[in-house]
Amino acid sequence: MPQALLAIDQGTTSTRAMLFGLDGAVLARAQVELPQAYPEEGWVEHDAMRIWADTLDVCRAALEQGGGSDDVAALGLTNQRETTVIWERATGRPIHPALVWQDRRTADWCQARLAHEAWIGEKTGLLLDPYFSASKIAWLLDHVPGARARAEAGELAFGTIDTWLIWNLSGGKVHATDATNASRTLLYNLARGDWDEELLAFFGVPRALLPEVKDCAADFGVTDPALFGRAIPIRGVAGDQQAAVIGQACLAPGMVKATYGTGCFMVMNTGSEILRSRHRLLSTLAYRLEGRSTYALEGSIFMAGAAVQWLRDAVKLIGSAAESEIWARGLDGTRGVYLVPAFTGLGAPYWDPQARGAILGLTRDSGIGEIVRATLESVCYQTRDLLEAMRGDGARLPAALRVDGGMVANDWLMQFLADLLDTPVERPVVAETTARGAAILAGLGAGCYGSLEEVSAHWARERRFEPAMPAERRERLYAGWLDAVGRVRSH
Ligand code: G3P
Repeated sequence: MPQALLAIDQGTTSTRAMLFGLDGAVLARAQVELPQAYPEEGWVEHDAMRIWADTLDVCRAALEQGGGSDDVAALGLTNQRETTVIWERATGRPIHPALVWQDRRTADWCQARLAHEAWIGEKTGLLLDPYFSASKIAWLLDHVPGARARAEAGELAFGTIDTWLIWNLSGGKVHATDATNASRTLLYNLARGDWDEELLAFFGVPRALLPEVKDCAADFGVTDPALFGRAIPIRGVAGDQQAAVIGQACLAPGMVKATYGTGCFMVMNTGSEILRSRHRLLSTLAYRLEGRSTYALEGSIFMAGAAVQWLRDAVKLIGSAAESEIWARGLDGTRGVYLVPAFTGLGAPYWDPQARGAILGLTRDSGIGEIVRATLESVCYQTRDLLEAMRGDGARLPAALRVDGGMVANDWLMQFLADLLDTPVERPVVAETTARGAAILAGLGAGCYGSLEEVSAHWARERRFEPAMPAERRERLYAGWLDAVGRVRSH
């Protein structure tokens, strides 16, 4: 019996493939960076053809390292969510670059329709924000010449990145998505578990554009045999934050994970119940298996690792992300300096697409160290905002926060996070929880595993950070953050 699972993790800033043993051991990995395009203020685009070419390259590289495709039982796919691609069914060519989840070009469009937010939220669990796919689809249909008529005639296909990759991996045979990715479009009825006609009408999206919605562990076809030497079954698909919930084994209601990638996404498993937030968190799917939905509450922050990238690439205060830890450790504090990284607006719980970033509290003795440390601290303050919102929604606070993503290698940051949340922070042995989640779903879909619970035994903790900051300092620092955020908000 084949002993490996191939996982694709197509993220905002990179595309990677990993080969896992059935026991979770990492057998091979390959990764390439993905260029970002910012054609106008607030716009963010990706080249969808490049994403596909990179995906193919990293899969082939990982398979080569791991000894070929013969041992691969199935392929699992996880992806940056909401990012929107529309392509021609006949040629497979995108009609426009992909509009990335961070893209704010539809902010005014959404703003003009805010009166509809309540009923849309009731159906989708989401907010009427440019973050999600629907207003991006509307923009493409309205701005690419002839697109709307061609969409209505069934000549075009829409997909989030999972769908785009499944289409290409299957040689154009399968047009499908999974329920977690569908749940981020603003077109999916969360309770009913399918596309919603009223939402399609509201956003002006022809049904003919949409993929079929499947469970996370399901039959998504097979890869074109020409790609990897043989047809590999595609059996697991989930949005990256949902895959991380699975990779972190947050399977019981109340368990929470936070992934620190480009942004930070904190997701709490709420079980079979759709918890409606009163603090502008999102109700979303954690996963759907055998037709049964497990729901989640999610807080999405747009800038986490991306803020450190900004320090490195835009203002060049540091030479590498790792240097930020050295600066932060070298100081006792920021001496009142706060950086609010609202570069593309503010996500949860503020949802303010017009807000922009700021550094506040500078004095003559503020230097690089204070700004670097304030940037790192902002990631923790934003996490605290999310936890406060979850608390406000009546969620029982987790016994510990499970963390993953590139930034969690920073020990200083993890300690500050535990201090600021007054909650233990747990870092797992397998840091690649997102790819691992995709592999687990593929293994489930291919019958290598009996249940998610069975695989959760593979999860192991590498280190636990215990909160140690005195309450008075913690609350004083957080009050300063709330004040700083108040100053950058547009309303
Ligand atoms: O909702 C956007 C999210 O899925 C992107 O995740 O890891 O690419 O920053 P990441």
